[in-house]
Amino acid sequence: MKIIQLPPHKRENVLPLPVVLISTISKAGICNAAPWGNITPILRPLNLIVLASWLRRDTLDNIRETGEFVVNVPPAAMVEKVMICARNYPPEVDEFEKAGLVPRPSSVVAPPGIEGSIAWMECRLVEEILRENYALVIGQVEHLEVNDRYATGEGDIDIESARPLCMVCGNGGIRYTYPVDAGRFAPFSEMFIKKS
Ligand SMILES: Cc1cc2nc3c(=O)[nH]c(=O)nc-3n(C[C@H](O)[C@H](O)[C@H](O)COP(=O)(O)O)c2cc1C
Repeated sequence: MKIIQLPPHKRENVLPLPVVLISTISKAGICNAAPWGNITPILRPLNLIVLASWLRRDTLDNIRETGEFVVNVPPAAMVEKVMICARNYPPEVDEFEKAGLVPRPSSVVAPPGIEGSIAWMECRLVEEILRENYALVIGQVEHLEVNDRYATGEGDIDIESARPLCMVCGNGGIRYTYPVDAGRFAPFSEMFIKKS
Protein backbone atom coordinates (compact mmCIF):
# COMPACT_ATOMS: atom_id res chain seq x y z
CA MET A 1 0.00 0.00 0.00
CA LYS A 2 1.29 3.44 -0.95
CA ILE A 3 0.00 6.48 0.93
CA ILE A 4 -0.65 9.67 -1.04
CA GLN A 5 -0.35 12.84 1.00
CA LEU A 6 -2.71 15.64 0.03
CA PRO A 7 -2.60 19.31 1.04
CA PRO A 8 -5.05 19.88 3.93
CA HIS A 9 -7.38 22.07 1.84
CA LYS A 10 -8.19 19.08 -0.38
CA ARG A 11 -10.63 17.78 2.24
CA GLU A 12 -13.47 17.43 -0.23
CA ASN A 13 -11.34 15.09 -2.35
CA VAL A 14 -11.72 12.51 0.39
CA LEU A 15 -15.09 13.48 1.86
CA PRO A 16 -18.21 13.00 -0.31
CA LEU A 17 -20.80 15.73 0.29
CA PRO A 18 -24.52 16.02 -0.34
CA VAL A 19 -25.57 18.58 -2.94
CA VAL A 20 -28.67 20.65 -2.27
CA LEU A 21 -30.23 23.61 -4.04
CA ILE A 22 -30.95 26.50 -1.73
CA SER A 23 -33.82 28.66 -2.87
CA THR A 24 -34.26 32.19 -1.60
CA ILE A 25 -36.07 35.33 -2.59
CA SER A 26 -34.59 38.84 -2.53
CA LYS A 27 -36.22 41.86 -0.91
CA ALA A 28 -37.05 42.96 -4.46
CA GLY A 29 -38.89 39.65 -5.01
CA ILE A 30 -36.33 37.96 -7.33
CA CYS A 31 -36.13 34.17 -6.96
CA ASN A 32 -32.68 32.65 -6.56
CA ALA A 33 -31.38 29.10 -6.45
CA ALA A 34 -27.81 27.98 -5.75
CA PRO A 35 -26.11 24.61 -5.23
CA TRP A 36 -24.63 23.98 -1.82
CA GLY A 37 -22.36 21.19 -0.62
CA ASN A 38 -21.23 22.57 2.73
CA ILE A 39 -24.43 21.85 4.58
CA THR A 40 -25.13 19.55 7.46
CA PRO A 41 -27.81 18.86 10.03
CA ILE A 42 -26.78 19.74 13.58
CA LEU A 43 -27.15 16.43 15.39
CA ARG A 44 -30.09 14.05 15.47
CA PRO A 45 -32.95 14.55 16.32
CA LEU A 46 -32.64 18.35 16.47
CA ASN A 47 -34.28 20.41 13.73
CA LEU A 48 -31.28 22.66 13.03
CA ILE A 49 -29.14 22.83 9.94
CA VAL A 50 -25.91 24.71 9.26
CA LEU A 51 -24.46 25.86 5.98
CA ALA A 52 -21.12 27.48 5.21
CA SER A 53 -21.10 30.37 2.78
CA TRP A 54 -18.56 32.59 1.14
CA LEU A 55 -19.48 36.21 1.79
CA ARG A 56 -20.21 37.15 -1.83
CA ARG A 57 -23.31 35.04 -2.34
CA ASP A 58 -26.77 36.29 -3.35
CA THR A 59 -28.07 33.39 -1.26
CA LEU A 60 -26.40 34.80 1.87
CA ASP A 61 -27.64 38.34 1.11
CA ASN A 62 -31.21 37.06 0.63
CA ILE A 63 -31.13 35.00 3.84
CA ARG A 64 -29.85 38.04 5.73
CA GLU A 65 -32.58 40.23 4.22
CA THR A 66 -35.55 37.91 4.61
CA GLY A 67 -34.46 35.36 7.24
CA GLU A 68 -35.89 32.52 5.14
CA PHE A 69 -34.65 29.82 2.77
CA VAL A 70 -35.64 26.44 1.39
CA VAL A 71 -33.22 23.52 1.21
CA ASN A 72 -34.26 21.46 -1.82
CA VAL A 73 -32.79 17.95 -2.17
CA PRO A 74 -32.35 17.38 -5.92
CA PRO A 75 -32.29 14.00 -7.66
CA ALA A 76 -29.15 13.28 -9.69
CA ALA A 77 -31.20 13.81 -12.87
CA MET A 78 -31.34 17.54 -12.01
CA VAL A 79 -27.56 17.95 -12.29
CA GLU A 80 -27.56 20.11 -15.43
CA LYS A 81 -29.98 22.59 -13.84
CA VAL A 82 -27.81 22.53 -10.70
CA MET A 83 -24.81 23.62 -12.77
CA ILE A 84 -26.79 26.46 -14.39
CA CYS A 85 -27.62 27.71 -10.88
CA ALA A 86 -23.90 27.53 -10.00
CA ARG A 87 -23.14 30.38 -12.45
CA ASN A 88 -22.51 33.75 -10.85
CA TYR A 89 -25.53 35.58 -12.22
CA PRO A 90 -26.11 39.06 -10.76
CA PRO A 91 -28.83 39.38 -8.07
CA GLU A 92 -31.40 40.82 -10.47
CA VAL A 93 -31.44 37.59 -12.54
CA ASP A 94 -34.16 35.06 -11.68
CA GLU A 95 -32.21 31.78 -11.55
CA PHE A 96 -35.40 29.70 -11.61
CA GLU A 97 -36.05 31.14 -15.07
CA LYS A 98 -32.44 30.69 -16.22
CA ALA A 99 -32.34 27.03 -15.17
CA GLY A 100 -35.94 26.21 -16.13
CA LEU A 101 -36.81 25.35 -12.52
CA VAL A 102 -40.50 25.19 -11.67
CA PRO A 103 -41.30 27.03 -8.43
CA ARG A 104 -43.34 25.17 -5.84
CA PRO A 105 -45.24 27.25 -3.27
CA SER A 106 -43.86 26.76 0.24
CA SER A 107 -46.09 26.23 3.27
CA VAL A 108 -44.54 28.51 5.93
CA VAL A 109 -41.85 30.62 4.21
CA ALA A 110 -41.93 33.03 1.27
CA PRO A 111 -39.20 31.52 -0.97
CA PRO A 112 -40.62 28.82 -3.25
CA GLY A 113 -39.23 25.31 -3.33
CA ILE A 114 -38.23 23.56 -6.54
CA GLU A 115 -40.70 21.18 -8.19
CA GLY A 116 -39.31 17.66 -8.76
CA SER A 117 -37.03 17.71 -5.70
CA ILE A 118 -36.83 14.69 -3.42
CA ALA A 119 -37.52 16.77 -0.32
CA TRP A 120 -38.00 20.35 0.83
CA MET A 121 -36.85 21.88 4.12
CA GLU A 122 -38.42 25.25 4.79
CA CYS A 123 -36.03 27.08 7.11
CA ARG A 124 -35.81 30.25 9.17
CA LEU A 125 -32.51 31.90 10.08
CA VAL A 126 -31.59 31.35 13.73
CA GLU A 127 -28.06 32.73 13.83
CA GLU A 128 -25.24 33.82 11.57
CA ILE A 129 -21.67 33.26 12.69
CA LEU A 130 -19.58 35.74 10.72
CA ARG A 131 -15.87 35.28 10.15
CA GLU A 132 -13.43 37.33 8.08
CA ASN A 133 -14.13 35.58 4.78
CA TYR A 134 -17.03 33.20 5.39
CA ALA A 135 -20.26 32.86 7.31
CA LEU A 136 -21.97 29.95 9.00
CA VAL A 137 -25.72 30.15 8.71
CA ILE A 138 -27.76 28.22 11.24
CA GLY A 139 -31.34 27.62 10.23
CA GLN A 140 -34.26 25.95 11.89
CA VAL A 141 -36.26 23.55 9.75
CA GLU A 142 -39.82 24.77 10.26
CA HIS A 143 -41.54 22.56 7.72
CA LEU A 144 -40.30 19.38 6.05
CA GLU A 145 -41.87 17.56 3.12
CA VAL A 146 -40.75 14.60 1.05
CA ASN A 147 -41.90 13.71 -2.46
CA ASP A 148 -44.03 10.53 -2.26
CA ARG A 149 -42.60 9.53 -5.64
CA TYR A 150 -39.35 8.80 -3.81
CA ALA A 151 -40.49 7.75 -0.34
CA THR A 152 -42.50 5.21 1.57
CA GLY A 153 -45.68 6.21 3.42
CA GLU A 154 -43.60 6.62 6.60
CA GLY A 155 -41.29 9.10 4.85
CA ASP A 156 -38.29 6.80 4.40
CA ILE A 157 -36.49 7.70 1.17
CA ASP A 158 -36.15 4.99 -1.46
CA ILE A 159 -32.47 5.57 -2.19
CA GLU A 160 -32.58 3.52 -5.43
CA SER A 161 -35.24 5.61 -7.15
CA ALA A 162 -34.46 8.98 -5.51
CA ARG A 163 -30.74 9.05 -6.35
CA PRO A 164 -29.99 12.13 -4.19
CA LEU A 165 -27.22 14.17 -5.79
CA CYS A 166 -23.81 14.08 -4.08
CA MET A 167 -20.39 15.40 -4.97
CA VAL A 168 -16.76 14.37 -4.70
CA CYS A 169 -14.17 16.99 -5.63
CA GLY A 170 -11.14 16.10 -7.68
CA ASN A 171 -8.15 18.13 -8.74
CA GLY A 172 -9.85 19.40 -11.90
CA GLY A 173 -13.46 19.73 -10.74
CA ILE A 174 -16.50 18.08 -9.25
CA ARG A 175 -17.55 14.48 -9.84
CA TYR A 176 -21.27 14.06 -9.31
CA THR A 177 -22.50 10.86 -7.76
CA TYR A 178 -25.34 9.37 -5.72
CA PRO A 179 -25.45 6.80 -2.90
CA VAL A 180 -26.21 3.10 -3.33
CA ASP A 181 -27.57 0.77 -0.67
CA ALA A 182 -24.61 -0.94 1.03
CA GLY A 183 -26.86 -3.82 2.11
CA ARG A 184 -26.67 -3.18 5.85
CA PHE A 185 -29.56 -1.76 7.87
CA ALA A 186 -28.65 -0.67 11.41
CA PRO A 187 -31.50 0.12 13.82
CA PHE A 188 -30.70 3.08 16.10
CA SER A 189 -31.05 0.76 19.10
CA GLU A 190 -27.93 -1.11 17.96
CA MET A 191 -25.80 1.78 19.30
CA PHE A 192 -26.86 1.23 22.89
CA ILE A 193 -25.32 -1.46 25.05
CA LYS A 194 -28.05 -3.38 26.84
CA LYS A 195 -27.73 -3.45 30.62
CA SER A 196 -27.82 -7.04 31.84
C1 LIG B 1 -21.91 21.40 -6.22
C2 LIG B 1 -21.65 22.77 -5.70
C3 LIG B 1 -21.61 23.02 -4.36
C4 LIG B 1 -21.37 24.31 -3.86
N1 LIG B 1 -21.32 24.52 -2.52
C5 LIG B 1 -21.11 25.76 -2.03
C6 LIG B 1 -21.05 25.97 -0.63
O1 LIG B 1 -21.19 25.05 0.17
N2 LIG B 1 -20.86 27.24 -0.19
C7 LIG B 1 -20.71 28.30 -1.04
O2 LIG B 1 -20.54 29.44 -0.57
N3 LIG B 1 -20.74 28.12 -2.39
C8 LIG B 1 -20.96 26.88 -2.90
N4 LIG B 1 -21.00 26.67 -4.26
C9 LIG B 1 -20.89 27.81 -5.16
C10 LIG B 1 -22.23 28.54 -5.38
O3 LIG B 1 -23.28 27.63 -5.67
C11 LIG B 1 -22.11 29.48 -6.57
O4 LIG B 1 -21.11 30.45 -6.28
C12 LIG B 1 -23.41 30.18 -6.91
O5 LIG B 1 -23.25 30.96 -8.06
C13 LIG B 1 -23.87 31.06 -5.76
O6 LIG B 1 -25.07 31.63 -6.19
P1 LIG B 1 -25.70 32.90 -5.51
O7 LIG B 1 -24.71 34.05 -5.63
O8 LIG B 1 -26.93 33.12 -6.33
O9 LIG B 1 -25.97 32.56 -4.09
C14 LIG B 1 -21.20 25.39 -4.77
C15 LIG B 1 -21.25 25.15 -6.15
C16 LIG B 1 -21.46 23.85 -6.61
C17 LIG B 1 -21.50 23.61 -8.10
